[in-house]
Amino acid sequence: MAKPFYQLSTEEEYKKAYNKSVSNPEEFWDEIANTFQWRKKWDNVLNWNFSGPDINWFINGKLNITENCIDRHLKENADKTAIIWEPNEDGAPVKTYTYRQLHEEVNRFSNVLVNNGISKGDRVCIYLPMIPEAAFAMLACARVGAIHSVVFAGFSSRALSDRVQDAKAKMVITSDGLVRGKKKLLLRNIVAEALEDCTSVETVITIRHTGDKVETNHLDKWYHVELSKASPEFEAVEMDSEDELFILYTSGSTGKPKGVVHTCGGYMVYADYSFRNVFQYEGDDIFWCTADVGWITGHTYIVYGPLLAGATCLMFEGIPTYPEADRFWKVVEKHNVNEFYTAPTAIRALMACGDDLPDKYPMESLKVIGSVGEPINVEAWEWYNKHVGKHRAALVDTWWQTETGGIMISNLGNIGEHKPTHAGLPLPGIQPVLLTAEGDLMEENGKEGLLAIKFPWPSMIRTTWEDHERCKNVYFSTFKDHYFTGDGAKRDENGLYRIIGRVDDVINVSGHRLGTAEVENAINEHEHVIESAVVGFPHDIKGQGIYAFVICNEVLDENAYRAEIENKVSSIIGKIAKPDKIQFVTGLPKTRSGKIMRRILRKIADGSHDQLGDISTLLDPSVVDDIIKGKVN
Ligand code: WTA
Repeated sequence: MAKPFYQLSTEEEYKKAYNKSVSNPEEFWDEIANTFQWRKKWDNVLNWNFSGPDINWFINGKLNITENCIDRHLKENADKTAIIWEPNEDGAPVKTYTYRQLHEEVNRFSNVLVNNGISKGDRVCIYLPMIPEAAFAMLACARVGAIHSVVFAGFSSRALSDRVQDAKAKMVITSDGLVRGKKKLLLRNIVAEALEDCTSVETVITIRHTGDKVETNHLDKWYHVELSKASPEFEAVEMDSEDELFILYTSGSTGKPKGVVHTCGGYMVYADYSFRNVFQYEGDDIFWCTADVGWITGHTYIVYGPLLAGATCLMFEGIPTYPEADRFWKVVEKHNVNEFYTAPTAIRALMACGDDLPDKYPMESLKVIGSVGEPINVEAWEWYNKHVGKHRAALVDTWWQTETGGIMISNLGNIGEHKPTHAGLPLPGIQPVLLTAEGDLMEENGKEGLLAIKFPWPSMIRTTWEDHERCKNVYFSTFKDHYFTGDGAKRDENGLYRIIGRVDDVINVSGHRLGTAEVENAINEHEHVIESAVVGFPHDIKGQGIYAFVICNEVLDENAYRAEIENKVSSIIGKIAKPDKIQFVTGLPKTRSGKIMRRILRKIADGSHDQLGDISTLLDPSVVDDIIKGKVN
């Protein structure tokens, strides 16, 4: 496929594009957006203020994103493969879908939605394994104008229930079961439990995948039965640029996860633009992103970005270590993957399994290898570069967030300087700044500052679902006229950014974002727990582990309580939030105003007992000593 003009190929082109994107952002984005298929062109490119926040891109433009993901490729590339599906079991049949077949699948699914009462603006919750139907479901929602809310199928029934209720979803799409490595989950049964408290749900569509017998009730419709009644034709519903495309829940410092809202026009333009530039996709390349569609990475770089670009995208149901820890490399070799995108936690886990596994595979097809979700340490960066990229593929460390919709800071393929642990330069169109805690601009390089963005970009968060105030408070109130990322970063003398990590109470465990308050609330539901405080600590594989300091009214059996607390957290949030360490304590370090001083707990958790700093402002400094000594009762 021909490269569009905005897919940059050299450092000079990058610089030129970057300068233009700052000096004339509206013209910059207008020209890019013009290459997409719109039903009606926009009146003006951008209207914005960060104080609302009120952000509008491609105003009054009309479109349907799926016409851009699918229909517009049918003229010349109908027989190109859109999706290759590699199942959990090594050697089990691979499925492929051409753009023409994808068109039919999505049309049929759209009819299933409409036949079951879904229309524009309705919320549909998708709780599925990594099967092609997950992509079809998302696209079908977009085609009928419904707002999808994908919930990662590792979340518990309670977490699912919270998300269904918050969005007041009218439908849930799930499967009988899920397989991941040797593990199996009966998803439909988890949905049944979740729906006990959800009055908004009128229909559950269940896809038969594992063939397991599951509970069904009057809400249920089997997908294959509905599909047999559905026509392969469906006229996409016209959407406004700023109509909601999806909600994706993500954790923050406080309270329950919030629904980040993305809209149709801007997200579309940026998903395609960032995909092409970062991964330098060309021709008949095979692109593989190992994320789950339950996360933003799966949304933008398994479904929307690659399909918008007319790419061939590989979707993998399994895990990196099943049946053996060479599965990733085997799949790269089997499908001749050209661009490979994964997370540092996977790289570190595979690194621990030995060099000989990737070394068995030449992986000559690889041109770009990417990293996302958390800071990548030097050892992992070097290992990835040597044993997977073979010093030949370009390693891109991509920094972005659920809220940013697409990659913000990263190398573009092999363009420019690649420095270990540095995400690199911002993409053209992105204007990051480093600020001091007081909000002053840090122009000096080499120092750690707070990462903020001073100008809007098309795929930025528009609001948090039904709570605009929260969006304003979390992202736009820390610094006037800036979007605040919650991350700390440094910039070197060449302008390359290095992301240090979260500066708020969000921890990043295996690339999954969790709020410490969310985990504490779950722990506190144990009947003997009075109070708890959770912090992150450095973990060799996960990046950060979860350390919980817990006060109980009595601790009769430490091991039994630990197991009970772990179960509580798994059932309230999901296994990903299970604490790695639980320490029972008699008190927590608090200031006189009652605030827990997490700084001190973080030091204790990572073993830096001698660097606690000033503890004299604590209400009761002796608790610190008790914690270090391991006093329990
Ligand atoms: C972190 C994932 C360092 C960061 C796309 C951010 C990173 C949070 C990187 C967002 C990276 C993401 N280097 N840290 N390349 N990419 N992060 O919303 O702390 O799941 O704020 O989006 O992950 O996580 P989220």
